[in-house]
Amino acid sequence: MNISVVILAAGQGTRMRSALPKVLHKLGGIPLLQHVIRTARQLDPDGIHVVYGHGGEQVREVLAGENVDWVLQDRQLGTGHAVELAMSRVSDADTVLVLYGDVPLIRAATLSGLIEKARHDALAVLTAVLDEPHGYGRMLRDSSGKLVGIVEQKDASAAQLEIREINTGFLAAPAASLRRWLGQLDNNNAKREYYLTDVIALAAAERVAIETASPPNSFEILGVNDREQLSVLERVYQRDQAQRLMRNGVTIADPERLDVRGELQVGSDCEFDVNVVFEGEVRLGDRVRVGPNCVIRNTSIGDDVEILANCVIEDCITGNGSRIGPFARIRPETELADRVRIGNFVEIKKSRIAAGSKINHLSYIGDTHMGSGVNVGAGTIVCNYDGANKHLTEIGNDVFIGSDTQLVAPVKVGDGATIGAGSTITREVPPGELTLSRAPQQTRPGWKRPVKRNK
Ligand code: UD1
Ligand code: MG
Repeated sequence: MNISVVILAAGQGTRMRSALPKVLHKLGGIPLLQHVIRTARQLDPDGIHVVYGHGGEQVREVLAGENVDWVLQDRQLGTGHAVELAMSRVSDADTVLVLYGDVPLIRAATLSGLIEKARHDALAVLTAVLDEPHGYGRMLRDSSGKLVGIVEQKDASAAQLEIREINTGFLAAPAASLRRWLGQLDNNNAKREYYLTDVIALAAAERVAIETASPPNSFEILGVNDREQLSVLERVYQRDQAQRLMRNGVTIADPERLDVRGELQVGSDCEFDVNVVFEGEVRLGDRVRVGPNCVIRNTSIGDDVEILANCVIEDCITGNGSRIGPFARIRPETELADRVRIGNFVEIKKSRIAAGSKINHLSYIGDTHMGSGVNVGAGTIVCNYDGANKHLTEIGNDVFIGSDTQLVAPVKVGDGATIGAGSTITREVPPGELTLSRAPQQTRPGWKRPVKRNK
């Protein structure tokens, strides 16, 4: 069975009170519409047709990387009109599946089930039974329980408003039939819109089989209309991410205090303490431990790495067995090899640090290539910027840098060199020698501190 997916995303989203089109607001760091497109892709459809309208150019720009067919709906004349516009791109033999750009948590398995029900020329509708059905279209069934139509909230009688079985909006139907029904819609209703939901009554009148299915999780049908609902869905989504990670063998101190905003891949036996935020594409090896309050973005971490509390790590690659933090900041384009130690209040930017080197306290290392087995003393600063340009610092293997050293780039330090504490290094440091720049220490015997004069 060939599937054509139509995603409705033309609505304005007025209640978001935002300059950003609603479907571009993010859930777990990914635009709402992108979640729906990704779910649609899992069904391996023939085509994905996205009906866009308000702020449309921005939507297309942000999601330019998605290979979908964009269908412009200039004026929002209703859900039926929106689907009809997309139908011009759909072949008669396909099964059409209608999704919504602002209902992001629908599962592919639920949709496959719905499509399955639309086999043999049936119309399949996803419904749910709600305690508070207000606002939704209500499912109308005859005395034998057969579905005969949907009535919208605004058009419903008092008795119909009592019905708790609601229309989620998701449906699947054979394209040829759907096209025929959509052609018969009118807008004689409270909203003066062409309702997609009216196809149910048309199908019933033709005695076409109408099937219903329900989602296994109630959150799957939740839509985003305002920022409060967005925050509710964010938590649902994050809880779901946490459960997925725990199923894959991650220990999470508190699943309510973890945020994954992007793609997180994990090895075995990783452990996350509270308030960890992963952003973008993050890959963790085996036995990675992340302490509380860390932000890790677009980073790849090796095996047996320990990240202590309060670190911010961005665009970085680490080898195995390293320890970072607490309170470390690793900035973009940094590569840490195996068994590197980065301690508290250390900032590293655009640098390569080879195996076993240690930068444990209060340092800035930027635009630096550092060899292996280097020990960087507390308070060491690489002066990489002359106010106009950035310069490279090259440090060999087994170098010992005394505390409070400034390395004024561009500068080279040879293998095995030792730099005395408090030095300002401006010229090449030869290998194997002690180099220091330091004013000689003086003592003034008998010197007295001044005392306060009496007035
Ligand atoms: C719709 C259903 C209702 C269902 C509810 C579920 C209809 C007539 N009613 O009502 O039975 O219970 O969804 O949430 O379908 N859209 C367009 N172009 C348009 C109109 C809408 O793209 O011209 C998009 C909107 O952006 C939105 C979706 O379609 O994502 C649903 O439209 P909305 O106006 O919210 O329909 P509801 O009144 O909620
Ligand atoms: Mg709605």
